[in-house]
Amino acid sequence: MDAFIELDGVEKVFDVRRRTGFLRRERRRVRAVDGLSFTVARGEMVGYIGPNGAGKSTTVKMLTGILTPSGGRLRVAGIDPARERTRLAHRIGVVFGQRTSLWWDLPLIDSYRLAHRMYRIPDARYRENLDRLVELLGLEALLDVPVRQLSLGQRMRGDIAAALLHDPEILYLDEPTIGLDVVSRTRVREFLGELNAGRGTTVLLTTHDLQDIERLCSRVMVVDHGRMMYDGPLAGLHEAGESERTLVVDLERELPPVDAGPEARVVRVEGPRQWLAFPASVSAAPLVARIAAGYPLVDLSVREPDIEAVIGRMYAGRETVVPGTGNS
Ligand SMILES: Nc1ncnc2c1ncn2[C@@H]1O[C@H](COP(=O)(O)OP(=O)(O)OP(=O)(O)O)[C@@H](O)[C@H]1O
Ligand SMILES: [Mg+2]
Repeated sequence: MDAFIELDGVEKVFDVRRRTGFLRRERRRVRAVDGLSFTVARGEMVGYIGPNGAGKSTTVKMLTGILTPSGGRLRVAGIDPARERTRLAHRIGVVFGQRTSLWWDLPLIDSYRLAHRMYRIPDARYRENLDRLVELLGLEALLDVPVRQLSLGQRMRGDIAAALLHDPEILYLDEPTIGLDVVSRTRVREFLGELNAGRGTTVLLTTHDLQDIERLCSRVMVVDHGRMMYDGPLAGLHEAGESERTLVVDLERELPPVDAGPEARVVRVEGPRQWLAFPASVSAAPLVARIAAGYPLVDLSVREPDIEAVIGRMYAGRETVVPGTGNS
C-alpha cells in the first residue's frame, strides 16, 4: 500500500506552566500525542475522532509542520513536515474550522489573490480552480464581501476554497462543519465527498459530528489521550463498543414483558408496544420467530445501534480496543 501519510510512534509533549498561587507556578507536562502510529493511503478519506483534548488538532498541526513532534517519525508525501514545511505546503491544504485563514478585513477575493501569488499558482490554473470552487461552494455573491461580514457557514466555504486553490493532494480538515446549519453542513459534505471521489484528494477529517463520518468515511480512527483507540471500518465500531440493536414489537394488547430467549431482554414497555435490546452481532430472525410463535404479534421493526451511543461508551470506557481491520 502506498502510505501517503505515515506516523510511527509520534509523540508531542507540551510543557505548561500554571499559576497555582501568588508567585507560585507549577510545571506540568502534557502528553498531547502519546505514541501514535497509523498510515493513510493516497486517495483515502479517513475520519479522525476523539473527545475534547484527545490530541486531534495537535496531530493535524504536526502533519502540516506547524508543530514539531517530540518523538517518533512522521512523513507526509515522503516529506518531514517540520523540516520542510514550505515544500509540503504546496502539496497540502488545511482548514481549521475554529480559525480562519482568510484576511478578516479584506473582501474574500483578496485572500484568494494572495494565495495565487503565495503559492505561485499558474494564472490559467488559478482562474480555472477559482471558477470551479466558486461554483461548487456557492461563493459567487460573496467574493466582494469583507470576510468579517460573512456568516460562519459562508466563511467556512470560503476557507475550504482557499485551501484548495493550489490543487493540494492532501486536505486536512479540523472540524469543517462546526456550528454550521443543516443546509450548509450538507453542502460542505457533498463537496468533500465529490472532492475525494472525483479528484482523488486524500482527506483526513477531524470532527465531532458523527454524521460527517457516517456520510463520508469508510474508515475511522478514534484517539483518546493521544493514543489510538480504534482504527478500522465504521461498522466495526459497533462490535468494538459492544453495541446493541433494538427490536420494537407491537402486540395486539398490553402484555407482561415477552420472553424472546436468553439473547434479548425487554428494556421498555408502553401499552401494547415493547422494546427488546439484543447484541448487534446476533441475528434478529430467531428472536422474531420466537415472539411470533408465542405472542399475538401485529408489527415489528429493528433499530440499528446509535453510533453516538457506541462512541460515547467508548470514550467513557477508555480502554484500548484491538482494531478489527485497518492499520494502526
Ligand atoms: N500549545 C499548547 N500548549 C500546551 N498544551 C497544549 C497546546 N496545544 C494543545 N495542548 C494540550 O494538548 C492536549 C490535546 O489538545 P488538542 O487541541 O490536540 O485536542 P483535540 O483532540 O483537538 O480536542 P478538541 O476536540 O477539543 O478540539 C490538550 O490537553 C491541550 O490542552
Ligand atoms: Mg481540536
